Amino acid sequence: MNPPFRHGHRRRIAGRNTRQGAQLAKKLFIKTYGCQMNVYDSARMADVLAPLGYAQVEEAKDADMVILNTCHIREKAAEKVYSDLGRLRAFKEHKLNSGGEMLLAVAGCVAQAEGEEILHRAPFVDIVLGPQTYHRLPELIARATRAGDPGTGPRRGVVDTDFPAEPKFDFLPEPGLSGPSAFLSVQEGCDKFCTFCVVPYTRGAEYSRPVRDVLGEAKGLVLRGAREIVLLGQNVNAYHGEALSGSGEWGLGRLIGELAEIDGLARIRYTTSHPGDMDDDLFAAHRDVPQLMPFLHLPVQSGSARILAAMNRRYGPDDYRRVAEKLRTARADMALASDFIVGFPGESRNDFEDTLKLVDDIGFAQAYSFKFSARPGTPAAAMEVQIDEDEKAARLAELQELIARRQTLFNAKFVGLRVPVLFDRRGRKSDQWGGRSPHMQAVHVEAEGSLFGAIAEVEVQTATMSSMTGRVVDVPQPEGAAA
Ligand code: SAH
Ligand code: SF4
Ligand code: F3S
Repeated sequence: MNPPFRHGHRRRIAGRNTRQGAQLAKKLFIKTYGCQMNVYDSARMADVLAPLGYAQVEEAKDADMVILNTCHIREKAAEKVYSDLGRLRAFKEHKLNSGGEMLLAVAGCVAQAEGEEILHRAPFVDIVLGPQTYHRLPELIARATRAGDPGTGPRRGVVDTDFPAEPKFDFLPEPGLSGPSAFLSVQEGCDKFCTFCVVPYTRGAEYSRPVRDVLGEAKGLVLRGAREIVLLGQNVNAYHGEALSGSGEWGLGRLIGELAEIDGLARIRYTTSHPGDMDDDLFAAHRDVPQLMPFLHLPVQSGSARILAAMNRRYGPDDYRRVAEKLRTARADMALASDFIVGFPGESRNDFEDTLKLVDDIGFAQAYSFKFSARPGTPAAAMEVQIDEDEKAARLAELQELIARRQTLFNAKFVGLRVPVLFDRRGRKSDQWGGRSPHMQAVHVEAEGSLFGAIAEVEVQTATMSSMTGRVVDVPQPEGAAA
């Protein structure tokens, strides 16, 4: 997680600050919680506000506008927002006392879920807006600043948590400067209604952007320096966008095939996927499209048939094993990552052991695991047999230990091998560079001259659970690189 009020996605905004130049006075601070979709949305909010003279800064303290782009997925994430708001209130009052103003906006999934309630708990908030209405930020700012004296006086916060009929994408400006790896949102929302999950309520019904729009945005990103595009969606492999020409719809496999035609686009990834939506076209894309990276985040959640049914995941552990096998048949070096929930209501020791068994069988390259968190309004929150918190913590520790071992084993196999690394960040020292292998491993090297934006062959020398180091053995000319 990001430290409070320091920007955690510096590399994604590095270009934006310089682009705005010094003549623009208004300071915008955005803190992003939660998933990659929120990271994408935060960048797009900055794009929407740039014409109003806002440029991103890395500290909240003195900002003219602060946006908290929030996550509602687990209780901890949601509560964090309120503690952060408490601290921001002091900044806001200080700014007011020195004759300035700090607009405070709460965006994202907590905003969508709690709406007006946020203004009751934190009356000093100016704007509450959901994930589908941020293209209206200029109008919301105008309404909020018209409504009275900033911060003091009667409550004047404005709330917009609509699900507009017209998708926000139709109103958003071109994305700003891109780094070597860029997110591109192609699908949003979810119709799956897993019994533990808030996403169908906070993000709304499933929606896919038309192929034409996705291609347009992708070409723009590549022109501005992207070498890798990560296609985003809450359920990205359920993508079914309006076809490029004629009638009908394209699935994700076909979309990826078309994206692979873009000159200069070296790598394609997509996240997050549902095991039930892996179709033949997508397996074929993994077989046929070399730019499609051999790493897939495909959350299984549990290894128990009974728990998966209670979660309404619509597949069993053996269905998942079959999907994994098909992926490895399509591409032998395919690596999988997953999410797990432990302590789902009614989870017995046996159910949990089924999960451990699945982890052992699949051998995930990475995995995130969480204690079940009862979310208001979801069916699982009302289920009778809730698991004791201590038991959840013990199972989580056990699972995480196994995952760590498997992850370490996976990375260790690369020592002595050569891997192509896309370098997308500077290290702490001037000759240090960081990037990602095809399998999403973080790789660090020391090298003279800029590697930013280059894909270089690296011989792996050391590997731990979370990263690898190596030595550059071949640096091609960096294409479209701009540090
Ligand atoms: N669309 C993805 C998941 C999105 S939410 C999928 O279907 O797999 C990201 C992760 O948060 C989930 O994979 C799940 O592991 C976790 N999560 C979601 N709701 C949760 C809850 N109520 N308690 C604990 N973890 C949860
Ligand atoms: Fe949530 Fe994913 Fe299930 Fe949709 S598919 S309800 S986003 S866990
Ligand atoms: Fe969180 Fe919303 Fe993403 S609840 S995980 S920010 S879709």
